[in-house]
Amino acid sequence: MQSAVVAADTRHLPWAHLGLALLWALTTAAVGTAAFTLHTRCRLGALHRTWRLPPLRHRVYRRAGVNDPELRAGYETCRRLVRRSGQTDYAVTQLVPAPLRPLLWAMYGHGRVLDDLSDSGRADAAERIDAWVRAMEEDLARGTSTDPVRRALTHAVTTWDLPTGQLPASFATYRRDAAERPGFTSWEQWHAYWHALSFPVGVTRLATLLGEATGTRLGPRDAEALRRWTDAFNLVDALRDLRQDAHLGRVALPLPVLAAHGVTLADLRTGRRTPQLHALVRELAVTAHGWLDDADGLADRHPALAASWRTLIRLQRLQLRALERGRPRSGGRRGTGRLRRALVLHTGRLHAALNWRRLGPVLTPPQGARVPAPPPPLTPVVPRPRPAEPPLPPRPHAGGARPPAGLGDRVPRHVAIIMDGNGRWAAERGLPRPRGHAAGQSALRDVVYGALELGIPHLTLYGLSTENWKRPAAEVEEILRLLGEGANADREEVFARDVRLWWSGLPEGLPAGLLDALESTVRRTAHRRGLTLTLCVNYGGRAEITAAARKLAGDVAGGGVHPSAVTAPLFARYLHRPALPDVDLLIRTGGDHRLSNFLPWQAAYAELVFLDTLWPDLDRTGLWRAVETYARRERRFGGLGEAVAQGRMEST
Ligand code: IPE
Ligand code: IPE
Ligand code: MG
Repeated sequence: MQSAVVAADTRHLPWAHLGLALLWALTTAAVGTAAFTLHTRCRLGALHRTWRLPPLRHRVYRRAGVNDPELRAGYETCRRLVRRSGQTDYAVTQLVPAPLRPLLWAMYGHGRVLDDLSDSGRADAAERIDAWVRAMEEDLARGTSTDPVRRALTHAVTTWDLPTGQLPASFATYRRDAAERPGFTSWEQWHAYWHALSFPVGVTRLATLLGEATGTRLGPRDAEALRRWTDAFNLVDALRDLRQDAHLGRVALPLPVLAAHGVTLADLRTGRRTPQLHALVRELAVTAHGWLDDADGLADRHPALAASWRTLIRLQRLQLRALERGRPRSGGRRGTGRLRRALVLHTGRLHAALNWRRLGPVLTPPQGARVPAPPPPLTPVVPRPRPAEPPLPPRPHAGGARPPAGLGDRVPRHVAIIMDGNGRWAAERGLPRPRGHAAGQSALRDVVYGALELGIPHLTLYGLSTENWKRPAAEVEEILRLLGEGANADREEVFARDVRLWWSGLPEGLPAGLLDALESTVRRTAHRRGLTLTLCVNYGGRAEITAAARKLAGDVAGGGVHPSAVTAPLFARYLHRPALPDVDLLIRTGGDHRLSNFLPWQAAYAELVFLDTLWPDLDRTGLWRAVETYARRERRFGGLGEAVAQGRMEST
């Protein structure tokens, strides 16, 4: 009976309504699940960002030997910067074997920061770049940094033995860029500019690492292929950003090329695709395709390299085609372009990954036995500062003299002194010459205190020249003994003050005791910032420049430095003490008017002050007088004096 009722009820059920209810329930469940998943994903994503990395990235870091969370955070900052830079930039990093990926993020990320600084359009952009560069140099010397990007790059540099020799050249380019964006007048200039920017930290080194991984020795032809691809990359970038750059009043192409097509900045700013612009883009796209053809050669070297390299070339060609069709951002967010790009990239990544995997763990992270020695630092590597006693204030002047007031920003940043006249001082008193040198020690101390009181950041003293070996052995020995005593932080009172010691010169021929004293005091005072006292021992300007030229020539011959990248800042990097700034004021005591081979590179634009006082008779008041003379001088650096410039302004 009951079952009959049920059967009857079932028969009369409103099926349409039931169906609708079911559909409604399913839709609600689906929407609910989707919302829940999305919400959870977002939360998980946020969590990953804050305290955990996605498992795949975690693996990349593990394989790169980057285990420290702070370091990983630094590399992550760089990675995000690369991602923001553009698809091709990021694709490059996706196509190299996992252990090398963080290295590339650091290199690109650092370049991005400098790029952003130089493109910021801010009035103080050049100063900001200077500050960044100074901090970078110090970080490289210390081997770590408080800034995440610099921390990652410093780690990458020391881990993978990146050549830092070309860094100053690229820094100088960014700085020049910030001050004034160059208008390229030829393709040669265009190439030289981009090579100085693209190759500085380690593209060449990266190529060598990839060569090592694949057991291929990459030669000059491969380096050329790499260069060609980079050229194509920069050309595509320049074409893509034409309109945007034109709004900033510049264009990243040789100006004669634009002129030849009758294209002006004003045309570019409108963004209209005039027939002239179309012809220009078509012609340059052909050029870029040609460069990509040249770059193809690298792919023949090894299947693992081929998979990555060909993908990069294909991605560039896709971009070029999009540009030719007049879609600067194609391959971008939407449509078939995006799909095609994703297909090329992901197939390429798959191929590359399989091929790299087949090679096994060839690129070992830093802990491995194949780790290269860290590169010679810009300034000596120093241990983290010990919690040291606070430095003592400078001893006051015996006669109570106080430093001159009101010099403001006219205090020189770097004073160098030729401490001459010791021998004559002794002779005047009927004493042997070495007594003159001994008497010179107290003058030295007093002058150091005077520099500290005046706030001079750098003081460089000529202690022994490469030519002084011509003197009688006993005199040279006495000078060396006194220098050793003076450099000994345990015995020399100036090192209880806020003084950091550097030394400059050739170690060859110097007694081991003196070298030990110099090196240990350099290390022990490295954290001090008041005054940097550089002692030139066995120093000769010509010897310094010759040694620098020898090292640079070696790097050029080895392919690490391209001849077009050799600039004055790059050359300076090879000097004994690259961080030593230019000399503002050079003083010579003892009445002679010559430089005696002292700091010819650094003092190229120094103001010279010659004093008749013999060195042992000098005290800090003599230094202050020389600084006052300096402060009254007008430095023109080849330009026009203020009065002349003012006159010119008024007459125009
Ligand atoms: C400079 O004094 C000190 C050194 C060369 C170490 P000199 O010894 O040259 O003194 P003069 O010039 O002979 O008086
Ligand atoms: C320069 O003085 C060297 C030092 C002060 C260390 P010199 O006395 O040796 O120079 P010259 O020989 O007069 O040029
Ligand atoms: Mg002399």
